[in-house]
Amino acid sequence: MGPAELPFHKPALSELERAYLLQALEERYWGGGKWVEKLEHALSELYGREVVVVSSGTAALHIALTLLLRGEAGEVIVPTWTFTATASEVVHAGGTPVLADVNDTLHLCAETVEPLISPRTRGIVVVHYAGQAAPMGELLDLCQRYGLWLLEDTCHAVPAYYEGQLCGTFGAAATLSFHATKPIAAGQGGAVLLADSTLAERARLLRRHGMRRHVESPWLYEIETLGWNYMLSDFQAAIALAQVERLHLNWTRRRRLAQLYTEALRLIPELFPYPVSDTEKVGWHLYPVRWQGATAERRDQLLSRLWAQGFHLSVHYKPLHLHAAYRPYVRSHQRFPSAESAWNEVFTLPLWVDLEESHIERLIEQLANELRR
Ligand SMILES: Cc1ncc(COP(=O)(O)O)c(C=O)c1O
Repeated sequence: MGPAELPFHKPALSELERAYLLQALEERYWGGGKWVEKLEHALSELYGREVVVVSSGTAALHIALTLLLRGEAGEVIVPTWTFTATASEVVHAGGTPVLADVNDTLHLCAETVEPLISPRTRGIVVVHYAGQAAPMGELLDLCQRYGLWLLEDTCHAVPAYYEGQLCGTFGAAATLSFHATKPIAAGQGGAVLLADSTLAERARLLRRHGMRRHVESPWLYEIETLGWNYMLSDFQAAIALAQVERLHLNWTRRRRLAQLYTEALRLIPELFPYPVSDTEKVGWHLYPVRWQGATAERRDQLLSRLWAQGFHLSVHYKPLHLHAAYRPYVRSHQRFPSAESAWNEVFTLPLWVDLEESHIERLIEQLANELRR
């Protein structure tokens, strides 16, 4: 990548990440130890939940869905407008994902979810897309009426609020990702947030081979259940802890950059910023824009020209029902008009804390030029 190029993501890096990482290195434990515990403590203070740190957001979804499905093969409603892990982990936990269309803000909503509820439905996984809270009131109401659990895939929404309440604290469980692109970045990593301490204990067992160490004779252990190796290393936990401590600072910068994008986009009438009801309540993980009337083909041509000039824009998402692996999960006669129109029209702009105002000006100028070609 040349120096003039604008990557899609670049994790925030301060002296704190450097200092914590060096400490973890010098301590020579290197496995998941003290720094994982510190990270869990910091996240637990933030969310007021039991926190089990794991090796990725995908691992967090796998564990959370395993706990919620409890070995029963039930259906779980997920948005088609999401990353594959939201749905693949339903399958890996023994369930069947049922793909639902989304509303104008690209979230699940009662209108798209309710017709899919059947006696086989066990729960709903909601994604707070781009860092904006899904319509939690109506989704929680559905869960209550039909006796379903709610899992929040909170990977984008750190921090974000729905009617004053922090996203990640509504459902039976929530998951976070510390992937390099995310608001708390550590390269890889994730966490399960749980209200129930018995479930949290079970999640701790599952993330480390189902292994329980003997308290008096710690060289001995018993494999109580079959689990996975989903531990995070102390290196990643040290970086993630620094990011948690700088969360508000980093969020403030991303919100400011998002505001600059919104102002600059007034110069491009073809492009509409993603609709946000309250800029103070959004996590600002992604900055999606909508090119009304575009097609996926024209969008790809535009992005291809911009990439050739070093501007790395992206698409979040190609809806799951359009991927080969999800074909078996699409019901005949099922239609996804909202997600398909977004697939044609929505793309995402770089949004990371060290982005400069001049980057935004250059990108918007180039975007305007390319749209007018
Ligand atoms: C909505 C969503 N869910 C789950 C994941 C999976 O997280 P990870 O990459 O940490 O496994 C991601 C991101 O990658 C995501 O964007």
